[in-house]
Amino acid sequence: MTLKSRIIGCGLYVPERVLTNRDLEEMVDTSDEWITTRTGIKERRIVSGERTVELATRASRSALRGAGLKARDVELLVVGTVTADNVFPSTACLVQAELGMRPGIPAFDVAAACSGFLYALDVADRYIKSGAARTALVVGVDVFSRIMDWQDRATCVLFGDGAGAVVLRQTRGKGGILSSHIHSDGRYWEMLYTPGALTGSPFERRNSPRPYLKMKGNETFRMAVKTMGGAIKEAMRKNRLRPEDIALVIPHQANIRIINAIKDRLGIGNTRVFSNIDRYGNTSSASIPIALYEAVEAGRIKRGDVVLLVAFGGGFTWGATVLRW
Ligand code: COA
Repeated sequence: MTLKSRIIGCGLYVPERVLTNRDLEEMVDTSDEWITTRTGIKERRIVSGERTVELATRASRSALRGAGLKARDVELLVVGTVTADNVFPSTACLVQAELGMRPGIPAFDVAAACSGFLYALDVADRYIKSGAARTALVVGVDVFSRIMDWQDRATCVLFGDGAGAVVLRQTRGKGGILSSHIHSDGRYWEMLYTPGALTGSPFERRNSPRPYLKMKGNETFRMAVKTMGGAIKEAMRKNRLRPEDIALVIPHQANIRIINAIKDRLGIGNTRVFSNIDRYGNTSSASIPIALYEAVEAGRIKRGDVVLLVAFGGGFTWGATVLRW
């Protein structure tokens, strides 16, 4: 049998501080009613000074505990993030040091915005399938509260902070990742981006822009539905799956209306699509591993189930992963 990678542990960490829609009403010209009906979000978690590496480290500990492994057992660490604390070192190197992982293992970040976790999972899966690693830790972490313009009601109501992680183990069994499909189209970068994270050098005249997220909401919405719908179809075709073969779809949690549009296109019932967007908002790279953790904890995924993960993010980037639990 060919080598595959299987998720043997999931972890999550979200900051304690809850920012509700009512809290946002005090900050910008918005209402709980508008946010709820347009997005499905009721509240989100926001850091109170915690750094990205802290969130990632806590989620990693939780995943390792779930897998019954120690940090030293990990042979590869891939972190999906676009809000690293430093330009370098990578968040992965910081997590490696924090957790006391084995010196010398490959540890690096992958930047694909809200598709970051599926990109990181894709990379780790390919390492494991090729035999280059047997055990990998894959983390999705983002702290978008640091790149929000808290005076822009069109964006600041949508995002939250958090981290999720999984441990992957090489297997020859039936379970595991069946296929992974990642894509990008840089022509659309201006639909969703941050203007810059670096200050201008003394040799340039221009002022460095403020690094706040900018988004064309309606265009992004349409592309998210189109690309995620396409990725799901691609993944289903590859594995010869009918909608009824899929036990649970875990989509990126960006907007409940995007999730519903995908659901309607595919003809998949409510009970087979997971959502926790009401409690976390869009946590970017962390969204899918947080949802996966909660789905497993809630008993929504059983051994042998086919699960489909699908994401979309700035870049644009998008992707889908099919796995047998
Ligand atoms: N509270 C109250 N009103 C708001 C608001 C807020 N937080 N944000 C925008 N509005 C207003 C707009 O100013 C506009 O007012 P106008 O008609 O007087 O000009 C009105 O609400 C409608 O705005 P519109 O942008 O058309 O709303 P929408 O139904 O398209 O919803 C988004 C806006 C952002 C929720 C939606 O486009 C979306 O979810 N897009 C995708 C975003 C996303 O998921 N990005 C991340 C992808 S990984």
